[in-house]
Amino acid sequence: MSAVANKPRPTTEDDITAEVLRRFDATPDPRLKEVMQSLVKHVHLFLKEVQLTEAEWWKGIDFLTKTGHMCDDRRQEFILLSDTLGISMVTDLMSNRKPAGATESTVFGPFHREGAPEKEYGGSIVDADRRGMPAYMAGRVLDLSGQPIAGATLDVWQAAADGCYDVQDSSLEEMNMRGKFKTGADGRYLVRTTRPVAYQIPSDGPVGEMIRAANRHAWRPAHVHFVVSAPGFQTVTTHVFDSADKYLNEDAVFGVKTSLIAKFEMHTADDEDSRKYGTEPPFCTCDFDFVLAPAAK
Ligand code: BEZ
Ligand code: FE
Repeated sequence: MSAVANKPRPTTEDDITAEVLRRFDATPDPRLKEVMQSLVKHVHLFLKEVQLTEAEWWKGIDFLTKTGHMCDDRRQEFILLSDTLGISMVTDLMSNRKPAGATESTVFGPFHREGAPEKEYGGSIVDADRRGMPAYMAGRVLDLSGQPIAGATLDVWQAAADGCYDVQDSSLEEMNMRGKFKTGADGRYLVRTTRPVAYQIPSDGPVGEMIRAANRHAWRPAHVHFVVSAPGFQTVTTHVFDSADKYLNEDAVFGVKTSLIAKFEMHTADDEDSRKYGTEPPFCTCDFDFVLAPAAK
């Protein structure tokens, strides 16, 4: 037998783990090496801990294949998988530590779209048939010392009153419930929308199958999405949650942070706000200030 054939080679599960780790030893990028070796170590530990069977391995491959097939420019099943496994929120918490007083971040989610229409102060993001309870979201974008930030951009998106995003419901207008707002010199923004509703995350794919198999539910508490940015400041990807929602403590994707919960106040009679906004009751108002941390130097 040749010298090569005679060489000792991995035979046990632990030998294989050690050999795979060794094959990443020469990775030139140190961060890639760290990530890949840790991934291999933990996945192999998981396999051994649950004593994964070959049938379960096939099921896992099938699940990930279906997840990939479900992805296109309107549907991102991998983000949904990450969100429902809490991976997105753990990453968010580690990546977006903010100084005290700055608005906290939360999940980006799979429904953001580039190219939302630009809106004036007080512009509406609601589709033409105006379903849902009219709502005015107003506030300021501030720096950590409370000074207004002029020229901040608020990229806003939200599910419509039926709980669907435009990409999920072809009867909704293109770019319905989306808009980009800019603050003026006083740092103020005003968005005309509808009161957000709780909705279920898409459950017709492999992630839905997983949620049902685990006896979990798919509900997200009512919220409006914001990406707030300004030159010289850290961008924050966040939501404003309705304080009256019953799912605040059991968001399917673990995104609720207490500082992001706000009151949507109902107005059922003519009052100062109906005069201010030139609207008839019923409608609701939500006041929320965003505070941006300075960009890292
Ligand atoms: C969303 O809020 O749009 C969302 C976030 C995570 C998963 C599904 C939807
Ligand atoms: Fe959402």
